[in-house]
Amino acid sequence: MTETQFQCGLLVAIRSPQVVSKSLALLAAATTQQEKIHYILSLRLPGLDWTDQQRRNYFDWFRQAREYKGGESFDSFAKQIRTEAIEYLDEQTKQKLAPIFARDSQYEEAKSSESGSSNKTPARPIVRHWSVEDLVKTVASEEKSIDLKRGEAIFSEVGCFRCHRIAGRGGILGPDLTGVGRRFSKRDLLETIIEPSQVISDQYRATIFTLTDGKSITGHIADLHRGEWSVITDMSRPRDYTKIPRNQIEEFKPSPVSMMPAGLLDTLTREEIIDLIAYLRSGGDVEHPLFTPAED
Ligand code: HEC
Repeated sequence: MTETQFQCGLLVAIRSPQVVSKSLALLAAATTQQEKIHYILSLRLPGLDWTDQQRRNYFDWFRQAREYKGGESFDSFAKQIRTEAIEYLDEQTKQKLAPIFARDSQYEEAKSSESGSSNKTPARPIVRHWSVEDLVKTVASEEKSIDLKRGEAIFSEVGCFRCHRIAGRGGILGPDLTGVGRRFSKRDLLETIIEPSQVISDQYRATIFTLTDGKSITGHIADLHRGEWSVITDMSRPRDYTKIPRNQIEEFKPSPVSMMPAGLLDTLTREEIIDLIAYLRSGGDVEHPLFTPAED
């Protein structure tokens, strides 16, 4: 949490009269998903002073957010927050905003009939159960014979695109990977891919529910309605919700296991892994100059 986010949380907590205008301005300027989530989350709470225009701006934000390349999980978070925000409204405000909500649901319907395609990945044989140490040296040294196009093909073939966006394209359930090559060293990249559960960002962390009948369900919370929570238990089928009635939930806690499967590199050869890592480092740009043969 940044200092500004902390202050915003604080202002909401003490119900400062300026909190809405300040937070809306910060939301508009926010660049990361985490910041955005923070502001829309803070603003959903009841008891704040809103003008009608501010309310409209807030709910408009959710519709615009559907156009961001934020990924499926950002989408479902935003949806869940919107649902809660609406639940906190008093009847009079709900009436006032009804036209906006009606427009939004039309938009939602149009949106969901557009999507729905999924790419199947063919089965590949296991090459080796790679460890970080197996690879870190080669990946660190090898930079001459890199084929970014092949890296991209691998990214697609082993199913990374299914969950991740890179350079504005593809997957939807995990974080956007366009900037990951700038933030992560080669070793860090290998570690997050080979051992996804070592570090899990909160936004993508799954939740383990223990039900009153003793059963346990692990998944990603997609929607929180008052009486029922919708959970995605299989990341490859993000629209298949498991519904859990709220009164059957005994307890829930964050899962220590990443929703990203381990062992995804095990069907790849060393050369293919080198290309895949290079592709991540290029930010999904197969023309990236860093790796052209002219470099050496
Ligand atoms: C089934 C969905 C899924 C697939 C398939 C998948 N990932 Fe992930 N990935 C995730 C999720 C969810 C996270 C975030 C949770 C976490 O930090 O463990 C993540 C995190 C990452 C991160 C860390 C990003 C960050 O900003 O912290 C990298 C790098 C990554 N994945 C690369 C890959 C690569 C490369 C592939 C293909 C070999 C791949 N992933 C396949 C779901 C997936």
